[in-house]
Amino acid sequence: MDFENRIISRENMMEDNDTEFSLRPKTLSEYIGQDKVKENLSIFIEAAKQRGESMDHVLLYGPPGLGKTTLSNIIANEMNVNIRITSGPAIEKQGDLAALLTNLSENDILFIDEIHRLNKSVEEVLYPAMEDYALDIIIGKGPSARSIRLDLPKFTLIGATTRAGQLSAPLRDRFGVILRLELYSPQQLTEIITRSAGILGIECDREGAVELARRSRGTPRIANRLLKRVRDFAQVMGNGVITEKIASVALDRLEIDKLGLDSIDIRVLETIIKNYGGGPVGIETLAAAIGEESVTLEDVCEPFLMQMGFLSRTPRGRCVTPLAYEHLGIKMENTNSEQLKFDFKE
Ligand code: ADE
Repeated sequence: MDFENRIISRENMMEDNDTEFSLRPKTLSEYIGQDKVKENLSIFIEAAKQRGESMDHVLLYGPPGLGKTTLSNIIANEMNVNIRITSGPAIEKQGDLAALLTNLSENDILFIDEIHRLNKSVEEVLYPAMEDYALDIIIGKGPSARSIRLDLPKFTLIGATTRAGQLSAPLRDRFGVILRLELYSPQQLTEIITRSAGILGIECDREGAVELARRSRGTPRIANRLLKRVRDFAQVMGNGVITEKIASVALDRLEIDKLGLDSIDIRVLETIIKNYGGGPVGIETLAAAIGEESVTLEDVCEPFLMQMGFLSRTPRGRCVTPLAYEHLGIKMENTNSEQLKFDFKE
C-alpha cells in the first residue's frame, strides 16, 4: 500500500468532505478534547468580544487531522465574524495575499493552512499586515519606484502548521497566541466516534466505538473516516450495527493493527530493526529506504509512534524501542547496544 492509497492520507480524507463538514463541531462546547487549548481560547475570545476588538493572531500547530481548521471555524463562529480560508502553497504571489487582505472586513479572520509553505516574498507582505494592519505597495520600477502604505482593517490571522519549527522567527514572533494540539486519548476518540455516529445515523455500540477509537492513532479525522468504512462492513457482513467484533474484523481487513499501526508504520519499525539494527538511523536515510517523503514520516508516522512509545528520537537518529520489538513479535538479538543505553538513560 503506497502513501496515496493509505487510508489516513490527506487525499483520502478529503473524499468524504461533505459529511466531514457536517461532523465538525461548530462551537467550543461541542468540541471534544484539547481542553487546555479550549480553555485558553474561550478566554481570549471572550476578552476580545468584550473589548469589541479583533482577536490577536493565532498559530495552531500539531500533527494533521487534529482539528486546526475546525477550531478556526469555531473561533470565527464564536466571535461572530467572517473567515476566509486559504493555504500557504495557494498564495503564490504578493498580489494574491494583497487581494485577500484588502477584501477583509473589520475583525474578520484570515485562515492560512500550511503556513510554513508560504514563500519568502509573500511572507514579507504579512509582517506589516500583522503588526501594523498595513500593506506596503511598491509602485513603478527602477529609480522612480515609490512605496505607498495602505491601511487594512483590523483582522485576525490564524496560521496552521504541522511544523512550527519550520516557521521563520519573524513570522512566529508576530503571533500573539501559539497553541499546540495534542493527539487525542482513546476515551476522547470514543466520545467523538459516538457523536459522529449519532449525526450520521450509524448504529455503533460502546465496545465498537472503543475498538475504533483504539485504532485511530489519536486522530479524529482518522476516527471519522474509519467509522464510515467500518459501517460498510457492518452493513454488508452484519446487521448494520458496529460491534467490537465487526470493528475488529473490518479494521484487520483495512490493514490496521490492534493498536492502530498501519502498513507504513510497521514498515518504518521493521526497516529500522532489520536494516539498521534498531537504530539510530537518520530520517532521510530511513525515508529513502522506505520510499516515502521524510516530511510524511515526520508529520504523520512519528508523532503517533512516539506517543505509543515505539520510537524515540535521539540526536543521532531514530531508534526503535523494546516495546516495539515486543509488539511486532521480533526478538531483540542484533540490536545496537548503544541505542539501548540511550533509551535506558532517557
Ligand atoms: N469531530 C472531529 N473532531 C472533533 C472534536 N474534536 N470534537 C467533536 N467532534 C469532532
